[in-house]
This record gives sequence, structure tokens and C-alpha cells, in this order.
Amino acid sequence: MTNNELRGIILAGGKGTRLYPLTKVTNKHLLPVGREPMLYNPIKRMIEAGIKEICIVTSTEHMGDIVNLLGSGDELGVDFTYRVQEKPGGIAQALALTENFANGGKILIILGDNITKGSIKHYVDDFKKQEEGAMILLKEVGDPERYGVAAFDEKNSITNIEEKTSNPKSSFAVIGIYMYDFSVYDIIKNQRPSERGEMEITDVNNEYIKRGKMNTRVYEEAWMDAGTFESLEMAAKMLTD
Ligand code: DAU
Repeated sequence: MTNNELRGIILAGGKGTRLYPLTKVTNKHLLPVGREPMLYNPIKRMIEAGIKEICIVTSTEHMGDIVNLLGSGDELGVDFTYRVQEKPGGIAQALALTENFANGGKILIILGDNITKGSIKHYVDDFKKQEEGAMILLKEVGDPERYGVAAFDEKNSITNIEEKTSNPKSSFAVIGIYMYDFSVYDIIKNQRPSERGEMEITDVNNEYIKRGKMNTRVYEEAWMDAGTFESLEMAAKMLTD
């Protein structure tokens, strides 16, 4: 692998409780968004961005269904690797399971319920040129309290991210598409669970900000976190509009 090639990771674990009973017997990421299972959207975005090796992390209960759906990746011209997250201990905990897969290189992570309307290739290409550190994508939203929210200084540099705060410092949500160098795995090893008992991706991002190694871009096309009934319907509509 050359230094410039990124491997892709799609996080598709968690309980999907906000979509119960749709998620009583199946995994949230297998639910339809328009004409395709939710997972197809992040997979397509990775393929468009030139990524050929993709690791899917999901729970024990649903791994069988996910492998039945995706198989080896031959049909799509990619190579799928699978990792089991035995308990949903947070996004950063799911990511930690992929250290061997990342093989010392840079990674692109997409949360399996994040649906995007257009390509992310040019952001990925920018990140390939970045020697080290991280890049996250932001999107201006009307309901920032639902997400990780960025705060900025007077020069418009990101200073901090707060996870689901009732008093957001901006209307820029951090979307579930993250690019990291390999040092992310050491950052997670030194991290503690949050008050809600999860290993938070926001803590990982704040560590990169603290080190002065975080770049941000605003995602220019439509984006949806399809984790609720309303947003699941809106995501399907967004893809067909
Ligand atoms: O959608 C963007 C938001 O995603 C960000 O703005 C937030 O900063 C970030 O924390 C996340 O918030 P959510 O509340 O949407 O995260 P959720 O718990 O729904 O998890 C998102 C995906 O991550 C989910 O589709 C599957 C995966 N996941 C989650 C957990 C908690 C795992 O694979 N394992 C887990 O343990």
C-alpha cells in the first residue's frame, strides 16, 4: 500500500433503539433508504473516492445478515473485511477494533447511518495530501443540538466540538465522515468513556484539535443522519429528489 491510499471503515453496530420496532429483528443499516439498503450509500461514496479495501464493523446478532448482503465485495470490485463489536460501547470503541485492518495507514470512516447525496472524493483527495492529523466534514443545520457541534475562534478556526449540547456554540454539525492518520488508535487507547458510558468520537476529534492537527471542510451537498423515523424518510426523499 502506498502512503497515499486510504482504507475505508463503515461503522454499523449500535442498537438502533430510536428506530424500534423496525430494528427489533434487523440491523438499522439494512433498512431501506429509497431503493437500497442504507449501507449501500456509504459503500458507494467510498468506491467513488477510490477506496478498494473496506472494513465493516457490526454487532454479533447482525453480522450474518450483513455478510449475506455484501459478500466478499467481488461484485463491486472491492475487498470487504468484517469485525464484530460485541457490545455497543461507542463509535470510538467500534473504530478501535479496526487497528490491524488499517495496517499503519490513513483511514476514512463513515457512520453507517449517514446518507450523503453527492461524492466526497475531493475531500478525500485533499486529505491524501495532508501529511498527518485529521479532517472532518461540517454541515450547517437547523437542529445542531442533535449532533456534535463545532465552535470557532475569530479567525474561523475550529476550537472545540461539543456532543449533543442544549446550548450549541454554532449551527455547524460534525457529520459522520471522519479522516484520520494512524495515530487515532493511540488516541483511543488513552481515552476514557464519557458520562453516558460510551467511547466518544467527539473526544477523539477534540484531541486532534488540541494538537493543532485538525482540518475542517464544509460538505456542500445534502446530508442526513438517518437514525430516526423522520430522518429515515427524509433521507429516502433526498436521494430521489
Ligand atoms: O450523524 C452524525 C453524528 O453521529 C455526529 O454529529 C455525532 O458527533 C456522533 O456522536 C454521532 O451521533 P449519533 O447520536 O448519531 O450516533 P449513534 O449512536 O446513532 O451512532 C452512529 C452510528 O455509529 C450508528 O449508525 C452505528 C455506529 N455505532 C454506534 C455505536 C454507539 C457503532 O458501530 N457502534 C456503537 O457502539
